[in-house]
Amino acid sequence: MTEQQAPQRAVRTFVRREGRLTTGQQRALDELFPRYGVVPGTDALDFSQLFGRTAPVVLDIGFGDGEALAEIAADHPERDYLGIEVHRPGVGHLLRQLDDEGLTNVRVAAADAIEVMRTSIREASLAGIQLFYPDPWPKKRHHKRRMVQPAWLELAASRLTDGGFLHMTTDWADYAEHMLEVIAASDAFDNLAGQGRYAADAGERPPTKFERRGLERGHVVHDIILRRRERSA
Ligand SMILES: C[S@@+](CC[C@H](N)C(=O)[O-])C[C@H]1O[C@@H](n2cnc3c(N)ncnc32)[C@H](O)[C@@H]1O
Repeated sequence: MTEQQAPQRAVRTFVRREGRLTTGQQRALDELFPRYGVVPGTDALDFSQLFGRTAPVVLDIGFGDGEALAEIAADHPERDYLGIEVHRPGVGHLLRQLDDEGLTNVRVAAADAIEVMRTSIREASLAGIQLFYPDPWPKKRHHKRRMVQPAWLELAASRLTDGGFLHMTTDWADYAEHMLEVIAASDAFDNLAGQGRYAADAGERPPTKFERRGLERGHVVHDIILRRRERSA
């Protein structure tokens, strides 16, 4: 196949570097994925069917080990949460926690969140999107792998309902600045702290595992909380 014929490979925001699953994580995947798991296909997900009720749905992208997601879901029983993570040990960890705590308002996909957003989530269907500590890809040549890019922000805006929120956080100063620049170029959002500003606090986000790591390294945490503007008629 010549270079011209080769299909263009999408730039991924992750590299699958999967350590071994612990016996507990493997058992959680085998036993609990059928209960909480979603395998997104080409059809749009039907949230009412998925959660067995109609409630505002919040998407959590790259939940890691899922501890922060489980904590928020427990604090907000009135909402439903769809968590998407590519790292299967993290998925296993969250499944175990959902079962231990008896949480019923979380569903989990082990997949690329960008693909799921594109193909399986309807327009104007999400009440919120959480992107806590996306992989920072600190080297300049890797910046193209960062999740927050103009095309991604447009995709996020299209999936949110009018008034829906987008909450992002990072402890990498240049990624935080990059996020603000990408937001400034979009007309789909209002920044609740004011244009070009970071949120004064973390809002309803609990501390996450990656936050603790960043703080230990002396990093400063920045939260950005946006509201989806009304679509013009
Ligand atoms: C730095 S960790 C943060 C985890 C968690 N949100 C926290 O704050 O503790 C970023 C996570 O995003 C996941 N990730 C990266 N790109 C992803 C994608 N396209 N779809 C789903 N998960 C992704 C990684 O596997 C990783 O677990």
